[in-house]
Amino acid sequence: MSESTQLTDDFVRVCAVEELPVETAALAEINGVPVAMVRDDKGVVHAVNDICSHGQVSLAEGDVEGCTIECWLHGSRFNLDTGEPTGLPATQPIAVYPVIVQDGDVYVSVSAS
Ligand code: FES
Repeated sequence: MSESTQLTDDFVRVCAVEELPVETAALAEINGVPVAMVRDDKGVVHAVNDICSHGQVSLAEGDVEGCTIECWLHGSRFNLDTGEPTGLPATQPIAVYPVIVQDGDVYVSVSAS
């Protein structure tokens, strides 16, 4: 995400970048928080809260398209940079967590949310 973000003690190593193929999502639990790890169509890694803001559904099971992930239940898409839904029925954003990629590894902090 931000190139200026420092790799502080808040950040947890989640996986290697190559473990996340482009336009896929995977579920991770970071300090008890369910997180959808997503690699967008440009290869950028994102971390967002895994639970759809419209219902108790795992977003990591949805399709990734461009810089969005789709909730498989009712079809709302969420912007991976902002967490904002791009269409109904979801109206509330999901949390977006800072990501650092360093030496081929992905680190995420959920502590600021
Ligand atoms: S549960 Fe995700 S859009 Fe309805």
